[in-house]
Amino acid sequence: MSAEPLATKKGLGDPIDRVDGRLKVTGAARYAAEYPLPNLAHAVLVTSTIAKGRVLQVDATRAERLPGVIAIMTPMNAPRLPKKAASEGARPAMRVPTLLQDDQVHYNGQPIGVVIADTFEHAMAALPEIHVRYVTETALLDMATAPRNPPDTVRPLGGNRVTTRGDVERGLADAAVRVSETYTTPLENHNPMEVHNTTAAWDGDRLTLYESTQGIFNVRGSVAQAFGLAPENVRVVSHFTGGGFGSKGGPWSHEVLAAMAAKVARRPVKLVLTRRHMFGPAGGRARTIQRITLGAARDGALTALRHDSTSNTSTLENFVEGAATASRMLYATPNFSSTYDLVRLNVGSPTFMRAPGESTGTFGIESAMDELAHALGMDPVALRLKNYAERDPSDGRPWSSKSLRECYALAAEKFGWGARTPEPRSMRDGRWLVGWGMATATYPARTQPAGATARMNADGTVLIRTGTQEIGCGTYTVMSQIAADVLGIPVDRVHLELGVTDMPETPASTGSVTAASTGTAVHEAATLLQRRLAENGGQPVEVSTSTRPGPEQQHYSMHSFGTVFTEVRVDPELGIVRIPRVVTAHGVGRVLNEKTARSQIIGGVVWGIGMAMTEETHIDPHTGRYINADLAEYHVPVNADVGTIDVHFVDEHDPHVNPIGVKGVGEIGITGVAASIANAVFHATGKRVRDLPIRIERVMA
Ligand code: MOS
Repeated sequence: MSAEPLATKKGLGDPIDRVDGRLKVTGAARYAAEYPLPNLAHAVLVTSTIAKGRVLQVDATRAERLPGVIAIMTPMNAPRLPKKAASEGARPAMRVPTLLQDDQVHYNGQPIGVVIADTFEHAMAALPEIHVRYVTETALLDMATAPRNPPDTVRPLGGNRVTTRGDVERGLADAAVRVSETYTTPLENHNPMEVHNTTAAWDGDRLTLYESTQGIFNVRGSVAQAFGLAPENVRVVSHFTGGGFGSKGGPWSHEVLAAMAAKVARRPVKLVLTRRHMFGPAGGRARTIQRITLGAARDGALTALRHDSTSNTSTLENFVEGAATASRMLYATPNFSSTYDLVRLNVGSPTFMRAPGESTGTFGIESAMDELAHALGMDPVALRLKNYAERDPSDGRPWSSKSLRECYALAAEKFGWGARTPEPRSMRDGRWLVGWGMATATYPARTQPAGATARMNADGTVLIRTGTQEIGCGTYTVMSQIAADVLGIPVDRVHLELGVTDMPETPASTGSVTAASTGTAVHEAATLLQRRLAENGGQPVEVSTSTRPGPEQQHYSMHSFGTVFTEVRVDPELGIVRIPRVVTAHGVGRVLNEKTARSQIIGGVVWGIGMAMTEETHIDPHTGRYINADLAEYHVPVNADVGTIDVHFVDEHDPHVNPIGVKGVGEIGITGVAASIANAVFHATGKRVRDLPIRIERVMA
């Protein structure tokens, strides 16, 4: 464990090292693709090379005769699944995997087959020998010309396509200053270090899946449904997941395909996606085109805010990137409207990607606020304080807690914002143009039902079991800390078991809910255990609990807030942008572990730097092929791209959000970052970049 024994530390919030850190750095932590099942076969996906059409014929005769090849599944010979699972229509937000049940091709890179072989290498070697004939149709690949979805299928997070309050037209007419601009964010793809993978093993009609996932119960439910099994017949195991960021929130095609392959091969099958298969078959961030119009009085008070977002979906699903949701509640304007539109493209289905909606949306609204501040000749922080929302402007509810004012003050002080000269191009260091920008960060604080058991063993150790998953955030650690804190014992006397669907159900680790939801269940289980022990005279005892959020969820609006201040340096001749330092301050309720929480924010900021500067998935406009589907061409930040990240949390006591006062830190860290950087680039250069990423030619344009 840590150099300093954990037993010397006790408090909740202490920055203790990860309790699973030693397992991870020694390679002993077992990830899903590392279960050495006897007689294991290996599967790889065969993917389409056209973007739209039908698979006419698959000639695999040569491939089938290659060494080690066991079988090749195609749309023609794959086992038929019960109809219901295969034919569910594209309802709003409904995941529609492609499972070789028909010959339709919806995007370039779609799974259209599976090779099963005795080794991964033999399976890969068969791929070039599989010859597919298609009927090719013209693909929809251009957002400017592709048709819009019918309005009734556009349901952002299941909500309404249009939201209004007050009278935006009137508010704009009354405004002394208006800003109306279009901001765009590109297609992006999740690139966790661990690619998606499933190992499937049948025992009669009982199925076990070793799975890289953010949601073991989601996988269980979907796979059980696909095969027409009772959920109890599917056991999902996930002790460690090497990052997910939304793409592993729910199952795609490969889980069911692996289980189908294991049926065909009559032996356990491991299916690991290649890095290229991460582009298309496993989600990604939608492209957004955000039209934002702000109106303000001379003193900066917003008279109107309009945010209209168009994003792409696939031809399989109707996923809406909720880019306007943060705009609804960030500022106290009386007049607001937002609309969403969807364009169907022949690309892989988009899905949740870290702070889905808030990351893209805060780029739009926080860039627009910076433009408004400049138009008014007002300090960007002062403009935000002028429009500070003391209650949730979308519905009038009080906040469960909000420390955004303190965040602005703290970050501004740590950053040295007072020394900023407002005029663009007014700050220099030698030949470098220096720019200082800032933006607001926000993310909802959600708590969902969760369960846990707690057992006091005869040796004085405590076993906590809860069906959550460790996706790299520190779940083993903070859950252990919660239990240790309640029971008044050292953290190393708590043993935490998670990641198996036999355990009490908890939500998927998405939407920043785990610490709040599973943490509440662990807290209650430990509390019950302590009470029972007192009644029991200290005999070994086990308790079980399931918690659900109370009525406070209706009475209060629950969000985390924060701010991101950024310094950029721009080479005036070459347009190169460097980001030497970022200062953040967030109010996230109770911080369970200052070290893991800080890591979450750092991770979010690093990703925000990638979002701002480099990340973009390129699709060939003629073939729909994912052009840069690897880490050589899809650029995420490396060490040299990241300077100092100075993370601060303000003390925030939230008595309403849940019994442990936790709001979650998984996603807020990326929000506001791209706008903060774009605003700093404007301050440095006078050039407003409204299209991400901030490429050199956009700075120099
Ligand atoms: Mo998060 S994008 O909901 O995993």
